[in-house]
Amino acid sequence: MLKLSNWSKSFKENTVLKNINLEIGTGDVLSIIGSSGSGKSTLLRSINFLEPADSGSMVFNGTELNVETITKKEILKIRQQTAMVFQNYALFSRKTAKENVMEALTQVQKLTKEEAMTQAEHYLTLVGMEQRMDYYPTQLSGGQQQRVGIARALAIQPDIILFDEPTSALDPEMVAGILDLIKQIAHQETTLILVTHEMNFARQVSDQIIFLDKGTILESGSPTKIFEAPEHERTRQFINGFQ
Ligand SMILES: Nc1ncnc2c1ncn2[C@@H]1O[C@H](COP(=O)(O)OP(=O)(O)O)[C@@H](O)[C@H]1O
Ligand SMILES: [Mg+2]
Repeated sequence: MLKLSNWSKSFKENTVLKNINLEIGTGDVLSIIGSSGSGKSTLLRSINFLEPADSGSMVFNGTELNVETITKKEILKIRQQTAMVFQNYALFSRKTAKENVMEALTQVQKLTKEEAMTQAEHYLTLVGMEQRMDYYPTQLSGGQQQRVGIARALAIQPDIILFDEPTSALDPEMVAGILDLIKQIAHQETTLILVTHEMNFARQVSDQIIFLDKGTILESGSPTKIFEAPEHERTRQFINGFQ
């Protein structure tokens, strides 16, 4: 379970997240929707302290942590229990697919090279990349690179995977395959938090959706509520803009 309370973040005078409160159950899927600049990436990146919030508290795996007093050790532990999938894949260009997946396993999880290799091969096979494990990122399509990005996230067996617009940079014909892959891993042990503009997908896969508007959660709830009976005209307009 992950809970954020009064979670806020500013960049100088620009308040980007304002008193965010949210709660997500283990194994659930939470989608974050909202316009460009509404704070979606910042919210995602603040959860694993890639971009720390300024104030607020988090409950993660039963431990309550206050942003203002959290220690480096506690941040490291959160990082080890979370993984991120980026819009631009963020693979190391000089490493093969397999080496990319192995990297976090040897560096962060401290597995031996052999253990890391076995685990990397397992997860690359799971995402349909068994034929291309020794290819470099430039030798792979965008869809294949994102499969490697997802294998890398899965391989560390995190409690939470944070996806930041995982299909936004893909050619249209690659999108469905990646969404199918995310669907396959949804509703298992791993909690998924997903920033996406794929409204139909968010509607199908999410347990909960939050609509972020200028750094605040304007509204949240089940896909049925958000898509069929939004409380706010602003939410309705946003969703209709995608149809
Ligand atoms: N590292 C940063 N430094 C300064 N401002 C930032 C930084 N990252 C994001 N912002 C600002 O925070 C706001 C929200 O950005 P972001 O979280 O990327 O929104 P979204 O992902 O919804 O498009 C924007 O006004 C953006 O310019
Ligand atoms: Mg963003």
